[in-house]
Parts: sequence; C-alpha cells; structure tokens
Amino acid sequence: MGTVAYGWLARVHWPAREQAIRGLIRRHFLNETASRDPMTRILDVGCGPAWLAETAAALDAEYLGVDPDPPRGVPQVRAGRASDVEELLQPRDLVVINGVAHHLDDAELSGVVASARRSAGLIVCDHALDAATPLRSRVLQSLDRGRHVRPLEFFERLRGWSRIETLRFPIRIAGIPAWDYFAAAYRPEPQA
Ligand SMILES: C[S@@+](CC[C@H](N)C(=O)[O-])C[C@H]1O[C@@H](n2cnc3c(N)ncnc32)[C@H](O)[C@@H]1O
Repeated sequence: MGTVAYGWLARVHWPAREQAIRGLIRRHFLNETASRDPMTRILDVGCGPAWLAETAAALDAEYLGVDPDPPRGVPQVRAGRASDVEELLQPRDLVVINGVAHHLDDAELSGVVASARRSAGLIVCDHALDAATPLRSRVLQSLDRGRHVRPLEFFERLRGWSRIETLRFPIRIAGIPAWDYFAAAYRPEPQA
C-alpha cells in the first residue's frame, strides 16, 4: 500500500502520534529547550503523506520528507529510503522515524540510526511491545504490513544515543484503546 492508499486508518492514528512527537520536540529540541544545538529542520524518514510538514511549520522549522513512495505535489518531499538519509542529513536536522521502524529490517534500521548521529536528535515513534501490551494491541500488531515490530526493550538503548524521554500512549478508535504506541526522543552521544 503506497501513500495514495494511506487512508482513514492513518487519520485515526495521526493525532495521538503527532501530539506525542510535537511534545517531545517542544521539550527537547527547540531553541528555548535544547541543551545542545537546537534543531532547524525535521527530516521525516518514511514520511508517507508528509503530515509532519504542518507540525514543522507550526514550530517554525524547515521540513524534508523522504519516502520510497512519495506523495505527489508536495515540494518538501523526495523519493528515497531510510538508507538515503546519510546523504540528505544536515547537522541541525531532527530525524523522525514515525510509524516506520517496523517496516525496516535490522540492517536498514541500524543504518539510519547510525547515520543520524550527525544530527541534532532523533525521535522514534512506533508500536509498543512488552509484557504490558494488551492482547488486542498484539493482534493489531500482527496484522500490520510491517513485519519488524520490535520489543520496546530494543528502543531503550540505541547505540550511540542517549534516550531523553519516552512516552507511551494508546491510539484509540471511537474512544476505545486499540494500538499501544510509544514515542522516544534521543540525543547523540558525543563522538570520539
Ligand atoms: C505506516 S506508514 C507511516 C507514514 C508516516 N510516517 C506517518 O506517520 O504518517 C510507513 C511508511 O514507511 C514507508 N517505508 C517503507 N519502507 C521504507 C524504507 N525502507 N525506507 C523509508 N520509508 C519506508 C512507506 O512507504 C510508508 O509511507
């Protein structure tokens, strides 16, 4: 399913994820809050319809989305994969991997996480999977097209990164919790 078919389900999914990501950006990566260089651009890996461009605009940040199946007519998006981030990356980018990690195999995920270390920070938002994940959420995870839903433990420690904050939240349908999600913010550890 490409971005064209990214339909009503994505709209249901979007507000909770956007709110979590926006909160992390506000608290950790902007001029007023960053403990190191603040971000100036969101680099949205696997951007889908590029809705995060609106968040970037609201935060006075620039935006670049990358997706193998990019939406037509969106100027700040280009065709590419997670493995292309290395050549696109700028030092003041905040790299966001939103709903995409479970689409990436270990080699591609570790590659993008390693390349992103030259940036101002990283946010990963994805399925939350651990002992507390309810059965309904596990069933929905198993139905996802992405075949790489990883245990939450995997995201607790990413090589070369310090985790600053993790949010865990439900995504609801008609008020009923459906998917368990998390969003985590990381800062690059100083490189030797
Ligand atoms: C669930 S959608 C999430 C889209 C968007 N980030 C959002 O939250 O609305 C997953 C996206 O990952 C993209 N994708 C799949 N494989 C990818 C890869 N290897 N590198 C980058 N993006 C990929 C798909 O094209 C799709 O747009």
